[in-house]
Amino acid sequence: MKIKITRAKASDVDAISEIEKACFAVPWSYEMLHSDIVDSIVADYFVAKDEQGRALGFCGMYDVAEEAHITNIGVLPQYRGRGIAGQLVATMIKNAEAHGCQAITLEVRVGNEPAIRLYRKYGFVTEGIRKHYYGVNGEDAFIMWLNFGSKRTF
Ligand SMILES: CC(C)(COP(=O)(O)OP(=O)(O)OC[C@H]1O[C@@H](n2cnc3c(N)ncnc32)[C@H](O)[C@@H]1OP(=O)(O)O)[C@@H](O)C(=O)NCCC(=O)NCCS
Repeated sequence: MKIKITRAKASDVDAISEIEKACFAVPWSYEMLHSDIVDSIVADYFVAKDEQGRALGFCGMYDVAEEAHITNIGVLPQYRGRGIAGQLVATMIKNAEAHGCQAITLEVRVGNEPAIRLYRKYGFVTEGIRKHYYGVNGEDAFIMWLNFGSKRTF
């Protein structure tokens, strides 16, 4: 499946908000996403579209000084398992490097095996745990890091 990844803009917020709702039990609000995508100077969002221009997935990150922080990534359920998230992660890694970041970090639910495997595939390693990080059910989060000095897996 041919996917094009572009920087998200104001006209993508509606579709991204729908993907967010389809992916997360407690989705970020439209306003939060709009603020990040349109107003923020530290947030970078990318959207994955098919050849018809339909948005199938997206991701967001913050670049702060020499560290980047992945805040969210999601792919519509019916389009999972086709490498879309992988392309989004690779795009974020290149974006962080282009901004002069030395490392990327993120939090992920300890029970979110697909996401943990996704990040591991791109070289992220678990370096810590945040206890009861998620308010809804009190689930712990792994803290994962990718240091650009470490060996790449792609
Ligand atoms: C996690 C998520 C983004 C993966 O999207 P995707 O487009 O299906 O992922 P890809 O097809 O690019 O898969 C890339 C790698 O991720 C891992 N992976 C993806 N889905 C997986 C699954 N169901 N089980 C195990 N590993 C999985 C694999 O390592 C895979 O590589 P492989 O195909 O060589 O085995 C998607 O499941 C999703 O949107 N989940 C809900 C939102 C979420 O949990 N986001 C993460 C928040 S931290």
